Amino acid sequence: MQNQFNSPVDRLEKMREDALKGGGEKRIEAQHSKGKLTARERISLLLDPGTFEELGMLVTHRSTNFGLDKQKFLGDGVVTGYGKVNGRLVYVFSQDFTVLGGSLAEAHAEKICKIMELALENGAPVVGLNDSGGARIQEGVVSLGGYADIFYRNVQASGVVPQLSLIMGPCAGGAVYSPALTDFTFMVEGSSYMFVTGPNVVKTVTHEEVTSEELGGAKTHATKSGVTHFTAPHEAAAIEQAKTILGFLPQNCEEDPIALDYTFGDEKRPKLDDLIPENAQQPYDIREAISEIVDSDTFFEVQKDYAENIVVGYARLAGKSVGVVANQPAFLAGVLDIHASIKAARFVRTCDAFNVPLLVLEDVPGFLPGTDQEWNGIITHGAKLLFAFSEATVPRVTVITRKAYGGAYDVMNSRNIGADMVYSWPTAEIAVMGAKGAAEIIFRKEIKDASDPAAKLAEKEAEYAELFAHPYNAASRGYVDEVINPRDTREKLIKAFDMLKNKVRNNPRKKHGNLPL
Ligand code: HXC
Repeated sequence: MQNQFNSPVDRLEKMREDALKGGGEKRIEAQHSKGKLTARERISLLLDPGTFEELGMLVTHRSTNFGLDKQKFLGDGVVTGYGKVNGRLVYVFSQDFTVLGGSLAEAHAEKICKIMELALENGAPVVGLNDSGGARIQEGVVSLGGYADIFYRNVQASGVVPQLSLIMGPCAGGAVYSPALTDFTFMVEGSSYMFVTGPNVVKTVTHEEVTSEELGGAKTHATKSGVTHFTAPHEAAAIEQAKTILGFLPQNCEEDPIALDYTFGDEKRPKLDDLIPENAQQPYDIREAISEIVDSDTFFEVQKDYAENIVVGYARLAGKSVGVVANQPAFLAGVLDIHASIKAARFVRTCDAFNVPLLVLEDVPGFLPGTDQEWNGIITHGAKLLFAFSEATVPRVTVITRKAYGGAYDVMNSRNIGADMVYSWPTAEIAVMGAKGAAEIIFRKEIKDASDPAAKLAEKEAEYAELFAHPYNAASRGYVDEVINPRDTREKLIKAFDMLKNKVRNNPRKKHGNLPL
């Protein structure tokens, strides 16, 4: 042994060289030929140059099962350590598919757990780059134990430090539950997939024929399941998205997000005065309002292609991070349904956990009616959003742009569930329901008995609209703090969030609330 090396330092250097090779040239080539980067290439795209400090580079597995003793690789298929993203500390693990398919077992899991514990104790985010064939089959139950160790730490760290999961290749079986427990998941189009059981098992059990891509590719999880928050055309773009998200979040739940310098100037946005169509039934794109209200080009949408009837995402307002939740009249009239409620509830809770104030733009005709929604539990799922807003202690400001009807009005961060400030545009209609529907119910008999029922309906509709299709009843009750000109919205919001910046609100002491799951 001694003869192999010229000196102790030489020995160390050789070991380092070995570790850097991962599973070897051929496997690295195979990785590249699939359009995928290696574990280390991904880390160097993520971290500021020269900041990566690797831990556990010389760790190996201890198994001798099925010839594993002859397949030892330094690092055991995962590169772990810490470094900086835009000058801020993050902990990172990056699975190396070139080593035993990035499969996870005892030593591999211990390395991940170690950096999760450091992250938790030192209050900094964890970024996981996942690319793995799952539990290392040769190591058996120890691999399952390793996953469970990670899941447990994911839950302990939840709400304490941000956790990001980038899926850069396969992520199958129980392995999917670590990303599912983290705050944000990013997938790469065409080269990453996630499923609990793969196409072969699906075929055996349900006789469905489906490809990996259809079953659990990026597009599927972005549009159908909502499992992923972001998709990107290639790995470098996914890594950029992760960095952007980190920029909106604090390092941990005890800190506030970083505020950029901002000088208050002319904040009027006259374009907003013309945004709402004259006909209240006509759609408009709420993203136009968002982009006029927040700092230029800062809106970063989350789950963009899922439940498009609600828009959520991060932005900056006068340099400060805000979470935007907005009904989208351009899709299903902005109605709240099961998926929209779950999407928004999750987003609200993520913002609240990490001290990101909430801005709500409201134009909601109500909850979506129908057997599909009722039988699938809109009652329970809608309650999630109600619960999430009600328990959120961050500054919360609502702007009602147009419709604010029924239970959905209550749910969308109304004054009575604890909004700090509620603004309304003059175009707002704050009522139990729209004028036509209301007239049809409360004047049913009168309309039926009228010589001209259509004319009677129109008359009663106008009567109801005159009484309720405006924001002034709500304003007279103090449910709306101020009716504002749309062009003044940005200015009002900057001032309101600045006024609320030292807000302290504590929920009653409890073990934890019982969110309707
Ligand atoms: C051990 C594995 C492995 C695994 C892949 N490899 N997965 N070794 N345990 N889970 C090895 C392969 O044997 C191969 O080694 C090398 O990694 C590269 O794999 P390939 O199959 O050549 O790559 P590719 O064609 O790209 O296919 C990737 C794959 C496939 C689709 C991921 O490898 C695969 O189906 N793997 C098994 C997946 C699986 O069933 N995992 C267990 C899931 S259950 P050689 O030396 O031949 O090149 C699970 C439970 C988690 O994970 C439980 C948590 C509670």
